[in-house]
Amino acid sequence: MRDLGDTGIRVSSIGLGTVKLGRAVGVKYPAPFSIPDDEAATHLLRRARELGVNLLDTAPAYGNSESRLGTLLQGWRDEWVIVSKAGETFDGEVSHFDFSPEGITSSVERSLARLKTSCLDVVLLHSGGEAELHFDETGSFEALAHLKAQGKIRAFGASTKTLRGAQLAIDRCDVVMLTLNPQERNDEPAIESASKKSVGVLIKKALQSGHAVQESGGAMDPVERSLRFVFAHAGVSSVVVGTIDPDHLAHDVAAAHRALVPGEDSQTQEKGGA
Ligand SMILES: NC(=O)c1ccc[n+]([C@@H]2O[C@H](COP(=O)([O-])OP(=O)(O)OC[C@H]3O[C@@H](n4cnc5c(N)ncnc54)[C@H](OP(=O)(O)O)[C@@H]3O)[C@@H](O)[C@H]2O)c1
Repeated sequence: MRDLGDTGIRVSSIGLGTVKLGRAVGVKYPAPFSIPDDEAATHLLRRARELGVNLLDTAPAYGNSESRLGTLLQGWRDEWVIVSKAGETFDGEVSHFDFSPEGITSSVERSLARLKTSCLDVVLLHSGGEAELHFDETGSFEALAHLKAQGKIRAFGASTKTLRGAQLAIDRCDVVMLTLNPQERNDEPAIESASKKSVGVLIKKALQSGHAVQESGGAMDPVERSLRFVFAHAGVSSVVVGTIDPDHLAHDVAAAHRALVPGEDSQTQEKGGA
């Protein structure tokens, strides 16, 4: 478990991304997949908690991920740190963006209803690219700050696609979600500046959306290689992995443990948890 910047929120070093619980089109994974049914999704969530994972990452743009989680987490929502987003929706074919204060506020209200909760732990502006360079002019940060003051969210930030957008968010926010893996290192300076300002850092695409796992022939397991690389960056709070396979999640948690706790018995971790 680690601090998410200075939000007061404690998160597991591996989080669970839930795109694949709600959306199978318009995604960039190496292979097609079927969205798990409720039984399989519940099994995945229970396994995640057994493994020590407490962070779930979702978004209105992830199909019905939010509403599924709202149903599946009834009775144990308090065991989780829920990160959702605002500003992007997906209509089944294309994304639509609205970063106006009214758009952000109504999006958060809708997420609260879908997730059947009175407070979201973190809400991130869901950047599609260019728009993030103007986040400080649209009033979206002010809208999030207002929601935080109202107690509807505990912390806010942005998931960005450019270094400039990331730097801008770091100056105004509690949390940023950045891309980092051995092939994509553009956000490294942002991780460093977030760390200096005690801004929480969530990492997306640490396994290159699954492409890194397909590499073979190296001396080290590709998951462990990627996670060792990411966790070598001191400001990282949690790596959000987007898996729907409980065994893969166990493998990822065990690899994170080996990366973070030298000398740990990896076999024990893969069976037992983090
Ligand atoms: N805000 C944004 O703009 C944004 C963008 C992208 C992602 N995200 C967030 O970040 C999360 C992670 O990103 P991501 O899903 O693109 O990429 P990722 O975590 O780098 O990779 C996920 C892929 O790796 C595979 N995988 C994971 N562990 C594995 C293992 N041990 N062995 C074999 N395959 C494994 C998964 O397949 P299986 O399901 O078969 O395990 C999945 O296809 C997302 O779920 C989402 O929550 C946010």
